[in-house]
Amino acid sequence: MSLAAINAPSADAAAESPVLELRNLTRVFSIGKRFLREGKPLRAVDGVSLSIPRGEVLAIVGESGCGKTTLSRMMLGLQQPTSGEIFVSGEPLADVDRKAFARRVQPVFQDPYSSLNPRKTIGQIIADPLHIHGVGAPADRLAAAQDMMERVGLARRLVHSYPSQLSGGQRQRVAIARALVMRPEILICDEPTSALDVSVQAQILNLLQTLRAELNLTYVFITHDLSVVEYMADHVAVMYLGRILETGPVREVLHAPRHPYTRALLDSILTPEPGLGLPRPDLGRGFPDPLDPPPGCRFHPRCPKAFAPCATLPPARVSEGDASVECHLYD
Ligand SMILES: Nc1ncnc2c1ncn2[C@@H]1O[C@H](COP(=O)(O)OP(=O)(O)OP(=O)(O)O)[C@@H](O)[C@H]1O
Ligand code: SF4
Ligand SMILES: [Mg+2]
Repeated sequence: MSLAAINAPSADAAAESPVLELRNLTRVFSIGKRFLREGKPLRAVDGVSLSIPRGEVLAIVGESGCGKTTLSRMMLGLQQPTSGEIFVSGEPLADVDRKAFARRVQPVFQDPYSSLNPRKTIGQIIADPLHIHGVGAPADRLAAAQDMMERVGLARRLVHSYPSQLSGGQRQRVAIARALVMRPEILICDEPTSALDVSVQAQILNLLQTLRAELNLTYVFITHDLSVVEYMADHVAVMYLGRILETGPVREVLHAPRHPYTRALLDSILTPEPGLGLPRPDLGRGFPDPLDPPPGCRFHPRCPKAFAPCATLPPARVSEGDASVECHLYD
């Protein structure tokens, strides 16, 4: 296959189905399972539906352990959903060839230290996906890797260097170049800057913004940091104990939040903990045990607005325009 032929989106693909759609996605882990002993079910992701139009940045935000990484691993095809479906440009993921899917959807992980092979040169690492997919001759692959290095702001002379010779920011640029070398449509970024120095974080976010515009990319951006959401995203989904409690345009959700949990998150960043990203909202009670989630609305034990039905009845999702909220105050 030639380099030019990969992933040129067909007119049909561009016909506007969402580039990525999740329908009622659920992932249950069995905890403490032993031979002949049933494990306890942990619903890490529980009935998530999201629709991501082409060219958008969707941020997924929530506290540690709410299921963000599990959700992103399912979107990358690295983890099977227990139930529910994923569609890529309208096509069920189950019908998309594994290799074709890997060309269209690529990850950028949190830790650029452990995600790069220390025994390979930067040029080899970036060209690796082309090699794996049998794209181009070796000389073409090296040229494509060097072109990508330029795009992500890495000097060409680093092509023969090893990851250990690079800074954290440079390594994350390598990871981004590797993710982009096959010209995917979608990048799934799981906390891509949270392991970096604060001064470098802004550079990487700027780079991702530039690349998105240049390469017409769609991003799913997982983060703890609401300032990153504000800077990067068009839409945001707020996740809690495996469920999406609120979605909407970033401006709307961050400036006029509907859900009491979103409000608590926003209040919590006004507490004096700079640089810590998203602290736990101080709602008087801790994060519930995911093995024993509260009945009814799962936020009710911490919710300052809880009223009679909240403890027993799960709220339905109510949509208005391109925003939605799951709370009895609105249904
Ligand atoms: N392979 C696994 N086996 C069992 N439980 C798991 C597994 N992966 C995740 N979990 C559990 O699923 C829940 C969601 O985990 P996940 O890593 O998706 O959260 P997260 O939102 O990405 O958290 P963080 O912000 O800390 O990265 C947690 O309770 C976690 O312990
Ligand atoms: S449903 Fe009830 S407990 Fe849940 S967020 Fe709304 S008001 Fe609070
Ligand atoms: Mg995670």
